[in-house]
Amino acid sequence: MTFDSPARKPVPGPGKTFRVKSFGCQMNVYDGERMAEMLEAGGYAAAAEGADADLVVLNTCHIREKAAEKVYSDIGRLKREDGSRPTIAVAGCVAQAEGAEIARRAPSVDVVVGPQAYHRLPDLIARAQRGEKAIDLDMPLDSKFGALPKRAGGQRPTAFLTVQEGCDKFCTYCVVPYTRGAETSRPFADLIAEARALVAGGVREITLLGQNVNAWDGEDERGRAIGLDGLIRELAKEDGLERIRYTTSHPNDMTDGLIAAHGEVDKLMPFLHLPVQAGSDRILAAMNRSHSVESYLRVIERVRAARPDIAISGDFIVGFPGESEADFEATLAIVRSTQYAMAYSFKYSRRPGTPAATMDGQVEEGVMNDRLQRLQALLNEQQQAFNERTVGRATRLLLERRGKHDGQLIGKSPWLQSVHVTAPGLAIGDMVEVRITSAGPNSLGAEPLMEEVA
Ligand code: 5AD
Ligand code: SF4
Repeated sequence: MTFDSPARKPVPGPGKTFRVKSFGCQMNVYDGERMAEMLEAGGYAAAAEGADADLVVLNTCHIREKAAEKVYSDIGRLKREDGSRPTIAVAGCVAQAEGAEIARRAPSVDVVVGPQAYHRLPDLIARAQRGEKAIDLDMPLDSKFGALPKRAGGQRPTAFLTVQEGCDKFCTYCVVPYTRGAETSRPFADLIAEARALVAGGVREITLLGQNVNAWDGEDERGRAIGLDGLIRELAKEDGLERIRYTTSHPNDMTDGLIAAHGEVDKLMPFLHLPVQAGSDRILAAMNRSHSVESYLRVIERVRAARPDIAISGDFIVGFPGESEADFEATLAIVRSTQYAMAYSFKYSRRPGTPAATMDGQVEEGVMNDRLQRLQALLNEQQQAFNERTVGRATRLLLERRGKHDGQLIGKSPWLQSVHVTAPGLAIGDMVEVRITSAGPNSLGAEPLMEEVA
């Protein structure tokens, strides 16, 4: 792929418009929102939907190959009809992993900034305006969070809140320990303050984020050591905050306290995203997952004992180097015994610099495609079955957006299902009592129990 060298472009700054485009995980969505807030605080305005922007931030994901390739095609597409381009900043994990490569492959990129340095974005843009190529891939010890503007909540009733970042697990296929750095937990007081600001701005559901969110630790206001369960219990005391979720967890960090919280904290939603990746102990060892099939299933059993209706979600990789047909069938077996409410599944993608990239036994694409198809057929069946099991239940929805039809709104059930409901007088942000009446694979229908509307 080739790119033209940049024509001199109008200088963005206060009064100019920007767009942040986030790819990949929920943490990138969170980071994208924080970058947008920072640019707004600096006098930029968000470009209207579909309109040209003076500054475009591509907030990238490096987990799988396609995501990185997409960045380059997106950069190409930013060229305007008259040959000019907006100021282009590449942020996120591709920036961290391939900073120099991006600058070489895409000369039209002005700023490259890693996920731990994006609080310096305004400064980097200023440097780009002076004609420098501004690259910042630092992982500074002082947290970016302190340097970002305070949060205010948005137009939506749900928000993400990053509580933990980075990963020390070093699964052999994964770039995260290299792009996001070591595990760090944000301080308790900062998190409570950020949650309060979100709730004051109208947020009713907060999803606590971390690559290993359940490895969060800190000290409460009395100086006592607490884990994620302690943080959840404290957040649950906040008036106006109705729902708490967290993602993504590692099986080894599912503490007794966190499992117990699922049975004891009403505001903690009955949903657990707990990736297992594969169902063969041999492959789990090669992945350096540091848990076994047995220990994973034991965690699931205990979580279900604490909260019988909990929805379990997971991540799977097919075609990890050395995966035999028998190993893959063991993955199907763990899916059958767990019974997932939903799941994400991926073909193994070779990530440069990770140990698995140079392992023997790389699996052919055709074999991976076949396995992915078989796994997804089973997971889809389970998702449909889970959704059908909720038909007839009375439950509460948090209404999040408008549906296609007049008066129709879409909300989330406690089990993170998208549920359609039509009734006069309902608004986004309402909690509504409903009875689930129908279930498809990806969404459900419900009728309001009007007399009980909260
Ligand atoms: N190839 C395929 N899938 C991957 N994931 C992480 N790295 C890779 C890779 N190299 C998946 C894992 C992880 C999810 C976020 O992405 O399943 O849990
Ligand atoms: Fe990647 Fe493994 Fe860490 Fe998850 S636990 S971020 S898969 S290294």
